[in-house]
Amino acid sequence: MTDKKPELSAAMKNKVEPKVFKKNPIIGTKFTIAISSAKGGVGKSTFATNLALALKKIGCKVGLLDADIYGPSIPKMFGITEKPKSDGQKLEPIIKYDIQCMSIGFLADQQTPMIWRGPMVTSAIKTFTQKVNWKNLDFIIVDMPPGTGDTQLTFSQEIKMDGAIIVSTPQEIALLDVKRGIKMFDKLKVKIIGLVDNMSHFVGDDGKKYSIFGEGGVKKTANEFQKEFLGEIQIDPEVGKQSDLGSPIVESLPENNISKVYIEFAKK
Ligand SMILES: Nc1ncnc2c1ncn2[C@@H]1O[C@H](COP(=O)(O)OP(=O)(O)O)[C@@H](O)[C@H]1O
Ligand SMILES: [Mg+2]
Repeated sequence: MTDKKPELSAAMKNKVEPKVFKKNPIIGTKFTIAISSAKGGVGKSTFATNLALALKKIGCKVGLLDADIYGPSIPKMFGITEKPKSDGQKLEPIIKYDIQCMSIGFLADQQTPMIWRGPMVTSAIKTFTQKVNWKNLDFIIVDMPPGTGDTQLTFSQEIKMDGAIIVSTPQEIALLDVKRGIKMFDKLKVKIIGLVDNMSHFVGDDGKKYSIFGEGGVKKTANEFQKEFLGEIQIDPEVGKQSDLGSPIVESLPENNISKVYIEFAKK
C-alpha cells in the first residue's frame, strides 16, 4: 500500500537528477590556477607566462597550459617550435626555462587557424589536463582564451581548479567583460583569487604618468564584487618586445622593474 498519489510517484520516478560534475584534478600538480579575463588583448598570456616564470624564480615547480585553442600564444612567447613526444598514451610537456609547457600550437602549424567545433575544444582541453605527463608540479598556470565559453565551462565544471586570477585593463569596455567573467566563476563556484590591473598607465620620458585606458577601473570593479585587488602593472614596451622574442621579461630581464612587479605577484 502506498499513500502517494500516482501522479506524484510518476513524477518522482522521472525526477531529473541535478548533473553532478566529477572534478578531476590534473594529475602531477598540486594547484591549478587559471588566468582569465573574458576580454581578449588585455594581457592574459603575457601575465600567465611572466607569472609562471616568476613562480619558478621563487622556487616553485611550474607548468604552463595554454588553453587558448583558437589563438595559442605560448609557442611564440616561449619561443617553442618543437613538437611534443608521445608514447601513444600520454604527451610529454615541452620543457623551456625549466617550465613544463603544453599548447595546441605545439601540435599544429602556427599559422593554420583552428577551425573546430565546441566539442573538439572540450576534448582538446581534456587531453591537455588528463593525458599530459605533468611531473611533480606545485602549480599549473592555465592561460585562458577570451570569453565565457566551452573552455571556461570545462575547466570550472570538470577540472579541479584552485582559483582564477582575472586580468584586465582599466578600460570600461574591458571591465564589462570582466564583470561577466566574475559572475561566471562565482556561479560555477570557482574561487577568484583577485584582479590585476594590467597596462594601468604609462610613464613617459618626461616622468609624467599617462592613464591611457582610464584610472582605477579594475580596483573599483574588485571592490564592487568584493574581490581582492592584487595590484597593477604599467605599460612597458619592453614587456611586449621580450615576449615577441620568445623570452618573457621575467626571464630575459629579471632586474627590470616590471619583472620585480611580476615576482611580487608570484609571492602573493
Ligand atoms: N604590461 C604591458 N606592457 C606593455 N605591453 C603589454 C603589457 N601586457 C601586455 N602587453 C601587450 O598587449 C598585447 C596583448 O597581450 P596578450 O598577453 O596577448 O593578451 P591576451 O592574452 O589577453 O589576449 C600583446 O602585444 C602584449 O605584448
Ligand atoms: Mg592570450
